[in-house]
Amino acid sequence: MTKKDRPTPINEEINIPNNEILISVTNPKGIITEVNDIFIKISGYREDELIGVSHNIIRHPDMPKIMFKIVWNHIMDKENVMAVVKNLAKDGRYYWVVTDFVTRVDADNNIINYTAYRRPVHDEVKQVVIPLYRALCAIEDVAGIKASEKFLNDYFEDRGTNYDDMVEEIIVKNYDKGTDLGLGRNPKEAIKEMSKEKKQSFFNKLFGVK
Ligand SMILES: Cc1cc2nc3c(=O)[nH]c(=O)nc-3n(C[C@H](O)[C@H](O)[C@H](O)COP(=O)(O)O)c2cc1C
Repeated sequence: MTKKDRPTPINEEINIPNNEILISVTNPKGIITEVNDIFIKISGYREDELIGVSHNIIRHPDMPKIMFKIVWNHIMDKENVMAVVKNLAKDGRYYWVVTDFVTRVDADNNIINYTAYRRPVHDEVKQVVIPLYRALCAIEDVAGIKASEKFLNDYFEDRGTNYDDMVEEIIVKNYDKGTDLGLGRNPKEAIKEMSKEKKQSFFNKLFGVK
C-alpha cells in the first residue's frame, strides 16, 4: 500500500477492551510476519492483507516521526522499549495503545525478529501525550525531524526527566487506576529502584508477555 492509498482518518476512536493484548511480529526489516486475532480485528484488515507488508500500514498521520525513530534506535540496538502509539484502522478510525517492543536474538546475538505487545491507554495518559505529539508533528511539518528531536530533548530537560522515565511514569499512571501493581505505596519509586532485568520482567508481566 502506498501512502496515497492509506485510509482517510476519521475522528472516531476504537476502544480496546482492558484485558486484550494486540500482538504483532515483524522480521528485522519491519515486515509483518505474525498477528494475533485481536490485532487483526481492531485493525480492520484481513490477516492476508497484513502479513508480508510493512508495519507502517497502520501508521496514523498524527504520530510524530521522532517517536518511531526512538523505537527503531532502541530495538536495532537490541534494547526493548515502550511507546504510546496512535494507530489507524482500515476504516479510518483510530486507537491508542501502549506498546512494548521486544527484540529477539539468536545464539550469535543476531536479530531474529521484533514483537510488539499493545495494551489500551488510560485517558489520563492520552491527555499528556496528545498535546506533546501535536507539537512534535507541527514542528516536523515546518522544520523536520531534527527540530522535533531537539524539542523533545528540551521538553525532557525542562522537566528534569528523559524518555524512559516519562514512559515509566505513563505506564504507572496507566495502571495505578484500579490495577494493583504489587509495588507497594509508591510504585514510581519502586520501579526506579529496580534493576534493568527486574524492570523488564515486571513490564513483561504487566503486558502478559510469556
Ligand atoms: C514489531 C514492530 C511493531 C510496530 N508497530 C507499529 C504500530 O503499531 N504502528 C505504527 O505506526 N508503527 C509500528 N511500527 C513501526 C513501523 O515499522 C514504522 O517505523 C512506522 O509506522 C513509521 O513508518 P514510516 O517510517 O513509513 O513513516 C512497528 C515496528 C515494529 C518493528
